[in-house]
Amino acid sequence: MKLLAGNSNRPLAEAIGAGLGTPLTEAKVQRFADMEVFVEILENVRGEDVFLIQSTSYPANDNLMELLVCLDALKRASAKRITVVTPYFGYARQDRKAGPRTPISAKLVANLITVAGADRVLTIDLHASQIQGFFDIPVDNLYAAPLFAEDIREHYDLENVLIVSPDVGGVARARGIAKRLDAGLAIIDKRRERAGVSEVMNVIGDVAGRRCVLVDDIVDSGGTLCNAAQALLDNGAVAVHAYITHGVLSAGAVARIAGSALEELVITDSIRATEGMRVCRKIRQVSVARLLADAIARINEERSVSSLFD
Ligand code: R5P
Repeated sequence: MKLLAGNSNRPLAEAIGAGLGTPLTEAKVQRFADMEVFVEILENVRGEDVFLIQSTSYPANDNLMELLVCLDALKRASAKRITVVTPYFGYARQDRKAGPRTPISAKLVANLITVAGADRVLTIDLHASQIQGFFDIPVDNLYAAPLFAEDIREHYDLENVLIVSPDVGGVARARGIAKRLDAGLAIIDKRRERAGVSEVMNVIGDVAGRRCVLVDDIVDSGGTLCNAAQALLDNGAVAVHAYITHGVLSAGAVARIAGSALEELVITDSIRATEGMRVCRKIRQVSVARLLADAIARINEERSVSSLFD
């Protein structure tokens, strides 16, 4: 087995390598002066089972291009099988035609990865699980839910915990964690009554006196999360926490969270933390390195991946 990493999240790639006892393959993944990507793999990979680790997070297009160029290099170097390990699969939110004359970019990215030479994909908490069907190669979609459930169990009195989905689209994900913890579930229904009028947050479920834990796949601007936290407190919740797999946290998001009513946001390291995230006292990271290392070992040994979640 060989592990190759792009530049998007070297600390996670190194932690995966440490978990597997397999050092990262020596390679140059660099830029020419005009920012074209250049890759040179410095070890023999002929006939190897290669796992290429790269999240397509910010800067999304540069990281995607690095991934594609690495795939081409591996394919031309005669790797036997290439699994793209993309803990955060960018472009996933563009998974349908949102309006006339708009693209389905998630499908385009799936095509690019396949055509560039991937044999399989390993990812975590795809924005919509149907995206697996955008690929004509096997996709293993792992869940952060067991990790989050364990962390919630360690930190809070489960008697008073209520799991909350910040929108209707995330109910299945939130229900999964509620089931693992044997906790109740509430849902926030966001509705814009008329164009130009601000969104109304209707809380479905009794949150009064409860410690609410919001669960979602992505926190980007932080708008959904901070508004949901406020709506829960307005409805009588005693405290609001959040567990969100992918901390996209684009410009202004960390400050918005720091100034919000939220007590704590727990994210995974699927996306490399910026300095701002690291110093923010309301944000804590839990690592998916062990989960990914276990899944990689199972794929390599042709063992079941789904049994990781039994
Ligand atoms: C939406 O469907 C996703 O699950 C997230 O709720 C959304 O991407 C969060 O975005 P933001 O943090 O910008 O509100």
